[in-house]
This record gives sequence, C-alpha cells and structure tokens, in this order.
Amino acid sequence: MSDLFPKDSWYALGGSAALDAGAVSPACLFGEERVVWRGEDGASHVWHNQCIHRGMRLQYGFVDQNRLSCRYHGWRFGGDGKCAYIPAHPDMIPPDDFCVPAFPSVESDGLIWTTAGEPGDSPPDLSDFDNLAFCRSLIIDADPAGVARAVSGLESARPVSNGVTAAALSTDETLVLAVQPLNDRKCQLHILVSSTSADTPATRHKCSAWARKFRWQVENNDIPQPAPQAAGGQETTR
Ligand code: FES
Repeated sequence: MSDLFPKDSWYALGGSAALDAGAVSPACLFGEERVVWRGEDGASHVWHNQCIHRGMRLQYGFVDQNRLSCRYHGWRFGGDGKCAYIPAHPDMIPPDDFCVPAFPSVESDGLIWTTAGEPGDSPPDLSDFDNLAFCRSLIIDADPAGVARAVSGLESARPVSNGVTAAALSTDETLVLAVQPLNDRKCQLHILVSSTSADTPATRHKCSAWARKFRWQVENNDIPQPAPQAAGGQETTR
C-alpha cells in the first residue's frame, strides 16, 4: 500500500447514521476483513470479521442487546470482544482468551473511524468546517493512491490528514473527502459537505451528483492532472 496511507492512521469506514442500533455490516481496510456493528446501547464496534470458534464471518451474525451473536453456533460476544455465552455449554464461563480481535471505533463528525495500527491520537478534527454533513459513501474501482492523487488535483484542494482532503464544490460549499483503502485496487470514498448555509437536500443532491461524476472520471482515467509547477510556483507554459 502507498505511503499515502500509513497503517498507523485513522480511516473512515462510513457514516455514523448509516449504522442503526442492532445493525451488523462488513467492512474492509488494507485487504483485512472487518465487521462493524452497533449495540442497542448505541456503542459501535469494529472487529476482525471471523468467529474464533469455527471461523464463520461475523457479518452474518446478529445483535442480541449489546452482544454480537455468531450465526453458526450462537456464541455471544460482548462489546469488548470477549465470549460471554456458549449455547452448547450454558453453565460454562468462557475463558478470557475466547476473544475476537477488536479495533478502535471512534465516531466523530458524522463518521465511524478506525485504524489498522496504533495512531496514538484521535481521528482528524473537522470542527473548522461549518455545517458539516455526511453525504454519502461510494466504492471506486481504482487504487487508493490514484484516487488520492485525483482528489489532490481538485479545485482548492488542501490536505487535512492522511487520506482526508478538503476541496471546493462551489464558492460557498466545501467537500471533505475521506479515502478508505479497501485493498490495492479498490477504495471507498466518504463524502461530507460543508456550506455557509444550513445543510439542505439540494446541497446533498449536488454533492452526490459530483461524487458519481468523479467516480466515473477516476475509473475511466478522465481526471485532469494538476498542471506541473515550474520553479517559483509559476505554471509552466509551452
Ligand atoms: S463458528 Fe461462530 S459460534 Fe461456531
């Protein structure tokens, strides 16, 4: 994976509002499968997407109050990833090492963030963006580094953090674009919009239309590349 996407960084997995209480969803980061789920208490969790018993993908499980139940033999795992109940042995207290590997799950600015490493701090602070609203996520069939380069070539683009860039949508609307590297051939782009006025359906519609066009351009190598800069910051002419 490109140096643009260090594992010791935070990456968005999707919009917080898209994950209802009791929902279970598959996810991927750097080619590693994850399961994302939300308990009835509202807490979100990001785990390795494999049951420790017989390897069933946990994405097919279901939420039982604040535990995730594997679909195969019904082992229940608490929010800390530890197995809390085994239906075939109802009187058994599962040992502490019966535990699904869990990753950080932090929700801020309308997104669920996680990491594949040890970022050591909190997800990017997007509080400088007024009226920031999550718009949508979409998968792009292109390598994450290429998508990041295309994003950095957008009008008024400026980096916010690893994989996160702000760019102009219009004179009073700013896109905040978070790239989630799925693997080395595919990524997911999470799109938020900040505007000087309140969030409206029209703004989101415009944002969504922009996203579909951007995806088409990237997947078809139709993105204008930034003009090369000569020494002193002047654009080259020929
Ligand atoms: S494979 Fe998950 S409980 Fe058996």
